[in-house]
Amino acid sequence: MDEFAFVDRSKTNAEKYVLRQKLFGTEEVMPLWVADMDIATPECVLEAITKRLAHPIVGYEIMSDSAYEAQIEWFATHHDFVMKREWLSYSPSVVASIGCAIRAFSDAEDEVIVMDPVYPPFYSQVRENNRTLVIHTLNQDEEGIYRFDLDRLSTQTSEKTKVLLLCSPHNPVGRVWSYEELSALCRWCEERGIVIISDEIHCDLVYAPHKHISTARIIPENTVMLLGPGKTFNMAGFSISTVCIPSQLLRDKFEIERKRVHWGDGAVLSHIGFEAAYREGRGWYYKLIAHLSQNAEYIDKTLSSTPIQYAKPEATYLAWLDCRALGMDDRELRKFFVKEARLGLSPGLSFGKEGSGFMRLNFAVTSQTLTEALEKLRGALQGDAYV
Ligand SMILES: Cc1ncc(COP(=O)(O)O)c(C=O)c1O
Repeated sequence: MDEFAFVDRSKTNAEKYVLRQKLFGTEEVMPLWVADMDIATPECVLEAITKRLAHPIVGYEIMSDSAYEAQIEWFATHHDFVMKREWLSYSPSVVASIGCAIRAFSDAEDEVIVMDPVYPPFYSQVRENNRTLVIHTLNQDEEGIYRFDLDRLSTQTSEKTKVLLLCSPHNPVGRVWSYEELSALCRWCEERGIVIISDEIHCDLVYAPHKHISTARIIPENTVMLLGPGKTFNMAGFSISTVCIPSQLLRDKFEIERKRVHWGDGAVLSHIGFEAAYREGRGWYYKLIAHLSQNAEYIDKTLSSTPIQYAKPEATYLAWLDCRALGMDDRELRKFFVKEARLGLSPGLSFGKEGSGFMRLNFAVTSQTLTEALEKLRGALQGDAYV
């Protein structure tokens, strides 16, 4: 039984649906790509906004301390990390904050470390801000677990390396970095004066027994943490996130760049939605995690009898499908998913060279939609024609 009802988004401007023709050359694909959920945003958020709209003026408003406090309490409860109000500031988007932080903590042509595969804007923000990419390959160990390698990383960096972009938990490979891994990485960066920009937008979407560790808990003086309710509560359309910088020194540097882009304090309806989600969204969130975990396991059960390799992610609602055993090159693989399976997934190659042979499937949908999608895939693998 589905905990969450199917919601038809096809008549909205949802990117996932509207861009199908452009990306896949057809509308006839089930869209399982961009990382938002086909699950309704929590009722408490929608109600709070409706209530606010009873007041007839929607002007400039500041983000209240009470909204920040709601996020602070959420993090204390769910991540054992107690943030101070003054560490936090508003940002319209995590990606915008990445760009801002790159400019704040490095100069033109300095080097920025990015792990491959990773969320594509990590690469583009480095390039577009005229910095040099240092691409560190994440390798799978003998158990198939993706890991970074600090010895190898040491051979890739120079005195021009100023920033490391960390995705924690990691999109697309679904890793929750362990305390040991994170501590070693933090120490390594500290020794070299490299600032860690830690994108933790997926930090709430973690499956037991894994536990997310806030990077700033390990190394507060050297970390910029990017947080937000966008993924957790399916609120990407609210354009609201926060930047957490415990160090006064780093905060001052970041503030210079923040002023340059003049993104201000954001929109009142976003502030309202943000606070309602963190204050009242807990019950909804627990149901969500149970549902996503079930979906992740269902993929495992369904694909285990196919050549596609998949391991339940430790976090995120993104399944990283290893399709290399199908013996197709990346062009053939994309074509197979669109033309044969009629599924719109994110091609692995868009996450970097190491994504070759992989596809990323967004499983934040109802159980019924997921079952349909996997049936399409199984049918295509068996050579059945789908209409
Ligand atoms: C790791 C990661 N960071 C950032 C974002 C986007 O965040 P925002 O919409 O706040 O820029 C995404 C969206 O998929 C993501 O996966």
